[in-house]
Amino acid sequence: MVNEIVCEDVAKVYDNGKEALSAISFSTPTRGIFALIGRNGAGKTTLTRILSTLLEPSSGRATINGLDVMADAGELRDRMAVVPQEGRVIPWMSPVQMITSYLLWRGAGYREARRRARDAVATVGLQEHADRLNRTLSGGMKRKSLVAMVIASEADLIFLDEPSTGLDPISRKGLWDLLTGISRDRFLFMTTHYLEEAEAIADRIGILDNGRLLALGAMDELRASMGEQYVLRFPAGIDLPALDGDIVVGRDGMAQVMTTEEVARSLSSTLIARGARFSMNPVTLEDIFYRKVGTDIGNGEGGD
Ligand SMILES: Nc1ncnc2c1ncn2[C@@H]1O[C@H](COP(=O)(O)OP(=O)(O)OP(=O)(O)O)[C@@H](O)[C@H]1O
Ligand SMILES: [Mg+2]
Repeated sequence: MVNEIVCEDVAKVYDNGKEALSAISFSTPTRGIFALIGRNGAGKTTLTRILSTLLEPSSGRATINGLDVMADAGELRDRMAVVPQEGRVIPWMSPVQMITSYLLWRGAGYREARRRARDAVATVGLQEHADRLNRTLSGGMKRKSLVAMVIASEADLIFLDEPSTGLDPISRKGLWDLLTGISRDRFLFMTTHYLEEAEAIADRIGILDNGRLLALGAMDELRASMGEQYVLRFPAGIDLPALDGDIVVGRDGMAQVMTTEEVARSLSSTLIARGARFSMNPVTLEDIFYRKVGTDIGNGEGGD
């Protein structure tokens, strides 16, 4: 059996006629962390729900480790744990109670479920709140107890739609460590709006826009797919010879240009000769994202 997700022309048209995914095809190994990024309305949740067997595609076919998300949904669900974007904790239960009942529902015995629930709650740093009612927890704590739920499960295919939304910067970094830890022996499919998060923890990244997959690969592969792989920043107003490419001037008065390594090196020499302050770095995921998706706000949709 091949350990990968394979999508062949997966499309989704909602009942109202909205085409949320247009014939997406790709394959990616089911190990480590896969992060899907894209603007509001790009189709991330739609694809996540199709792959996690919660939504039927309108056409096309998707398999995970050789199992069809429609025909073999039952078998896949036994191996999956999913936290949807709008995932809600059960308000009248504590994190430990909620996770225990989830594990019981998945077939664990009571003592085992209770022990794993406590361990997982401690793992996400909620031990002091383990027995408080969920409705008294902060938004970030609620998200953490949902993450604890999938950690506690024995599922080895984990789907998290925006797990870090609403977490403070310190908790977010803590979550990165957790997710990286989980991904050592389980596959994690996640979506995020934080590009630095995807760059920091994902082994592979997919860029979705307007229902289309614009790019997919490891950071190195995404970088290699760009004609221009370096970003040069220098004070705006310095006139440089032979500078092609779009120059963007930031609020800090620094101009930024994406260019090939060769041009970047020759421009650097010029900047050094002129005694200018500048930096030269490999493109980040943010650079790649803006380049691929464009910044035309009119194309996307507002939040939902
Ligand atoms: N149940 C639905 N019925 C009709 N249209 C829908 C439905 N769910 C989503 N859509 C539309 O499908 C498109 C993709 O939505 P989706 O939720 O997959 O985007 P997303 O990338 O997850 O966005 P976000 O970052 O805001 O969560 C959007 O245009 C959205 O309005
Ligand atoms: Mg979404």
